[in-house]
Amino acid sequence: MSRLAGKSALITGAARGIGRAFAEAYVDEGATVGIADINLEGAEATARDIGENAYAVQLDVSSQDSIDAAIGTVVARAGKLDILVNNAALFDAAETVDITRASFDRLYAVNVGGTLFTMQAAARQMIAQGHGGKIINMASQAGRRGESLVLVYCSTKAAVISMTQSAGLNLIKHGINVNAIAPGVVDGEHWEHVDATFARLEGKEPGQKKAEVESGVPAGRFATPADLTGMAVFLASSESDYILSQTYNVDGGQWMS
Ligand SMILES: NC(=O)c1ccc[n+]([C@@H]2O[C@H](COP(=O)([O-])OP(=O)(O)OC[C@H]3O[C@@H](n4cnc5c(N)ncnc54)[C@H](O)[C@@H]3O)[C@@H](O)[C@H]2O)c1
Repeated sequence: MSRLAGKSALITGAARGIGRAFAEAYVDEGATVGIADINLEGAEATARDIGENAYAVQLDVSSQDSIDAAIGTVVARAGKLDILVNNAALFDAAETVDITRASFDRLYAVNVGGTLFTMQAAARQMIAQGHGGKIINMASQAGRRGESLVLVYCSTKAAVISMTQSAGLNLIKHGINVNAIAPGVVDGEHWEHVDATFARLEGKEPGQKKAEVESGVPAGRFATPADLTGMAVFLASSESDYILSQTYNVDGGQWMS
């Protein structure tokens, strides 16, 4: 199919997991995709796997210089930027009384500051081009409500939902649609880390937290990254031109809003 034919996309945190699956789907739909990650080797390997319409981009979303350089790389390589997916994020968990300032600062720098300032840099580029664009932010069901041990991460994802609302209202006058996706639980290295974190904090066996969480998913299973690609393509395509400031749950029925 070619719903993104001729489009230039940048996906942050695309070396692995959900971002990688989005990159594969966008290339399948005809786009050229910058695989941006703090892990450059991983981004290069992913770009090689995907093929000639993917290329690696060095990016630390917590650094303004790095964001500006990454947008420059995309424009040098593809001549323009039409689609940004703000996907890079970090997870941490702790008892409220044990949250460290270092963890708070890092998660806010990446999940909130990274999303805001990459969105800003992309929007400036799209405005200069004069043809609008699509920005998709990765939120989470964690942004819909608090979790006992996940105060910081949940609050960063609530901020992503809120920033999507405001930026969407502000940027539509330039023809830029800003929307977000709120996944539930998605299989991959991210959840391996989550499971190991809960094993440490709650004294669980490896895999126990994951099994408990999975038993509560109405759809009966964890998502795979591929379960999210339909929404990611839709929000990047012209089919979503009249949609802005929304956060779509793709979560197997875990949250209704
Ligand atoms: N996996 C889930 O269950 C789940 C659920 C809800 C929301 N999400 C969200 O979906 C997105 C992708 O999740 P995932 O499971 O693929 O995560 P992941 O941890 O597998 O991948 C994240 C990628 O981001 C990169 N990254 C980290 N810090 C970065 C930085 N400063 N600059 C650039 N890149 C950086 C990592 O190197 C990694 O390649 C995240 O925003 C996450 O919060 C995931």
